[in-house]
Amino acid sequence: MSKHQQFLYALLAVVSVLVLSVEGEEIGVDVPLVTCPEFTPHSELNVTELEGVWYGASRSPAHKFACVEMKVSLIKNDTMVKFTTSHAALNTTLLNTVKEAMVDVVDLTKPDGFTVLYNLTDEKPVTYKIIEIDPDKKYAVMCGYTSPGNADESFGLIMTSERIADKKLLQRIKDEASKHFFNFAKDSVVDIQQSDKCASSAEVAVPVLSTILGVVYSFLRFMH
Ligand SMILES: *[C@@H]1O[C@H](CO)[C@@H](O)[C@H](O)[C@H]1NC(C)=O
Ligand SMILES: *[C@@H]1O[C@H](CO)[C@@H](O)[C@H](O)[C@H]1NC(C)=O
Ligand SMILES: *[C@@H]1O[C@H](CO)[C@@H](O)[C@H](O)[C@H]1NC(C)=O
Ligand SMILES: *[C@@H]1O[C@H](CO)[C@@H](O)[C@H](O)[C@H]1NC(C)=O
Repeated sequence: MSKHQQFLYALLAVVSVLVLSVEGEEIGVDVPLVTCPEFTPHSELNVTELEGVWYGASRSPAHKFACVEMKVSLIKNDTMVKFTTSHAALNTTLLNTVKEAMVDVVDLTKPDGFTVLYNLTDEKPVTYKIIEIDPDKKYAVMCGYTSPGNADESFGLIMTSERIADKKLLQRIKDEASKHFFNFAKDSVVDIQQSDKCASSAEVAVPVLSTILGVVYSFLRFMH
């Protein structure tokens, strides 16, 4: 072999090693996670799949409220969607806030998301994007943000059709979402406090806090 040939073989070896290692890195790991502003929602949505009552199951970052529920109804001859959202303060079950927002049905699939502005004076408009609705209506995955340039102001939200979400189902959704979306990074998604005691004032039975605070309560009782 001439010097020249040796050099070529050496070069070829180095190049192959480089190519192999680059390919190796591409297998399975480090696909960049899509942020909510980057995500383009499906251009088609069967709005009857969204209709009904959804319960907040998990959110990233953690939700500031408990017992989160959202009723979605079609109004104005099915041209508008009304979101009626209720929640309780953390660690409580009394649904002390009810708020509503209207969205044009055609806006739900806009690539830039749709704007939800609730009828409360201190609410900021929030851009939402529907990532996925399970055709069986068991769960819905959404993300949203108040400022597209600021990742800190975005969130991921998993809603389920049961107030107390099935643990295995929820884990599967979280695992899957964490592989693709920035807003569902593992450890940042926190389950939303839900309880079968969650109710509006009219429906609330006497021991309001019993389920959510049950553990704390028994502990306190034990101490006394
Ligand atoms: C929309 O969803 C509803 C409820 O899941 C279903 O009954 C209906 O067939 C769907 N419509 C279309 C056009 O897919
Ligand atoms: C409601 O929508 C249907 C179908 O789009 C249309 O045929 C009907 O005229 C509408 N009704 C009213 C009251 O606007
Ligand atoms: C809710 O309860 C937890 C556990 O008892 C406590 O750490 C937290 O501070 C409480 N949050 C509020 C807002 O009361
Ligand atoms: C907002 O909408 C809710 C639900 O319909 C209603 O109960 C509440 O009174 C409204 N609040 C304001 C400030 O209009």
